[in-house]
Parts: sequence; C-alpha cells; structure tokens
Amino acid sequence: MKRNPTEFLREEYNYLKENSLEWKLRVLEGPSAPRCVVDGKPVIMMCSNNYLNLSNHPKIIQASIDATRELGAGSGSVRPIAGNMKIHEEVEKAVADFKGTESSLVYQTGFAANSGLIPQLAGKGDIIISDSLNHGSIIDGVRLSPADRGTDEHQDIGQLEDVLRESDKKGYKKILVITDGVFSMDGDVAQADKIVALCEEYGAMSYFDDAHGEGVLGPKGEGIAAHFGIQGKIDVEIGTFSKAYGVVGGMVAGSEDLTKYAYNKSRTWLLSGSAPPGVAAAQLAAVQVLDQEPEHHKTLWENTDYFKKELISMGFDTNNSVTPITPVMCGESKTAKEMSDGLYEHGVFALPIVFPMVAQGKARIRTIMNAGLTRQDLDDALNAFEKVGKSLKII
Ligand SMILES: Cc1ncc(COP(=O)(O)O)c(C=O)c1O
Repeated sequence: MKRNPTEFLREEYNYLKENSLEWKLRVLEGPSAPRCVVDGKPVIMMCSNNYLNLSNHPKIIQASIDATRELGAGSGSVRPIAGNMKIHEEVEKAVADFKGTESSLVYQTGFAANSGLIPQLAGKGDIIISDSLNHGSIIDGVRLSPADRGTDEHQDIGQLEDVLRESDKKGYKKILVITDGVFSMDGDVAQADKIVALCEEYGAMSYFDDAHGEGVLGPKGEGIAAHFGIQGKIDVEIGTFSKAYGVVGGMVAGSEDLTKYAYNKSRTWLLSGSAPPGVAAAQLAAVQVLDQEPEHHKTLWENTDYFKKELISMGFDTNNSVTPITPVMCGESKTAKEMSDGLYEHGVFALPIVFPMVAQGKARIRTIMNAGLTRQDLDDALNAFEKVGKSLKII
C-alpha cells in the first residue's frame, strides 16, 4: 500500500486532543497589560512574563518607533554579513555595563542562545552536567552535542559534587555545568554561590540560564550573579529580553573571550537574521529603564511579597518559591485545570501547568507577578483564588 506521508499529522494531533494535551491558544485582545482582555473577557493578567510591565513603557515604545522610522523595518541580513548595525553593538555594551561583565552578545532569542552555544562549549571527550528541571532550550542544546551527559537531581548540591568528582576522575577534557538561574515552574533559585564554588574546585565551566532572573534578581535586576554577589565568577550567563525586559531577544554575558568565541561558533547566531532596529532600540531602552528607574523592580518585589504572603495565609501551598513566580499547588491535573477555568470566570487569567510538564500529582497554577498590578488588582485576584480554591477544596 502506498504510504500517506502526512497522515501522522492529524493522527498525532487527535491523540493530543483526546488526552487533553494539546495547546488551546487564547487570544490577547490589545496589549499585554496587567489588566487586559483575553478571549473577549477583561481579566487580571497573572501569567505573562512581562514582570516589570516594560512592554508598555512609553520610553521603550518611543525608542522602537524612532529607530524603525530612522533605520527601517529590518536589518537586511545576518550580523556577520551585512546586518551588524551600530544599535546592535550599543545594546551589547549597555548589557555588559549593566550586568558588570566584560562583554555581552545579543542572540535572536534565548532559545537560540542555548541551542546555538551549548553544543559549541562541549563536544566529544567532554561532559555536560545539567539540572533535571532545566528549560527545554537547554535540553535541546545538550542534545545537539556529542558530549557525555551527567544529570544532577534538581538542586541537589551533594549529588552535583559526586558527579563532578566522578567526571574529574574520568579525565574529561571539559566539564560544563548548566542550570537555570530561576526555575520557571517552581520559582526557586539555583544555589549559584555553591555551584560556582564547586565548578572552581573541579575545573568545570559554569553556565546559568537566567531567563527568569534578568530584570528580577539583584538590586536593580542585573541577574543572578548580582543577587549572590558573585559578579565575574559565572563563566556563561544567558538571558532573555522576552520576559522582564518586555521586548524579545536573547543574550549571553561573560568574558570577551566567551562572546568572541560564541559569535564565531554558534550557528543560530551566524545563520539567522539580526534583530530589526525597532527591536534593538527597545532592548537598549529597556536596559536604560532598568538602570535608571528602580521603582519598577521595587514594586515587583513588593507585589510578590504581598501576594505570596496572602496566598499562604489562606492555606495555599506555594511550594518552595522565593521569586515572582508563585506556583499554587493543586495536586491532580484535572483540579489545576478546573482551578484555572474558575479563576478565568472570576476575571483572573492564570494557566494550569500539568503532567507531563510537571510530575503527576504536582499540577499547579503558575502565577507570575507584574509590577503594574495595583494593590486593588491583587486583592481582587486573591478574592478569586480564595473562592475558587474553597469550591475545589484546595484550601
Ligand atoms: C529558562 C528559560 N530559558 C530560555 C527561554 C527562552 O527564551 P526566549 O523567549 O528568549 O527564547 C525561556 C523562555 O521560556 C526560559 O524560561
């Protein structure tokens, strides 16, 4: 029988649908704002990564408009050929200055940074040790490398040391230790000081993906190194402009040796068009806003502390979160989905995270705080959590 080459598409989609595993896309009508409209309903936004509400900041919007008018809609090329604009280099200088690193390099996305750089940092004869809850873009980057793999259990420093000792004994040429800075499903923070100390002891390279820490951790949002007071000690810091910076784009920060190596070697960087001027200008303006307007960062943390404290006092389990990502544990996937539907009915938009994204029995509503939410917004959201939580017997 002649094969049908595309039959699997519908079959697989139907499987996902029957098992409630497919993504149902919601439509945001208007900007990603703290109070916004989703599928026609006004809601309090509690699941965007726009932590500081910078996507709506007038200076950032204006910078993007001005650069588009002046420099055009696109850069015309990949950076190594004809698409390296002055504004791209200005962003990199600003990021390095803000974070206190020697150098930085902007990628098209954080995903492109991880998937393009990791396979260039470790190859045959090397080993990559990766936290078991690392982000999918790290997992894909690791898969693109022929290096051996040693997984360490989530945040288990003792086990990390065992794997490092073992790897050192085996005589690998290079050892690369990779971890998220802030873990996106739980909101816990990697023990960067201990990890870096272990890497120094065993001659391993430290690699932190700080996508959820950029703009959030550190006195002004400089990231995880500033949070732990270990600036200059992390070998590779990855970040994104798509979350707290309110724009889009990825970044790597570290030594000049690192960034020169990275742009000469990462195929995702070399072979993919550079950011349009409007995007680069918005990135630059976002760094400047972070540096000059500490109030957004301050409000984000005030909102986070208030919301977390109130949830806990109502009896919700927020797991071990210490950041603006606060999971509200629900147990089974079905309960988390009902909780999300109930919240939406009560005007709160917060999505469920269910198996297989998290372990069975650990389904949750993942809330993400926003600096643009007022105390009244937070109280309205908390009211909804209390009502729906009680009706589902979560509290
Ligand atoms: C830990 C982590 N790394 C990388 C990324 C990818 O970032 P970007 O949106 O810039 O591709 C994300 C986004 O979900 C993330 O959470």
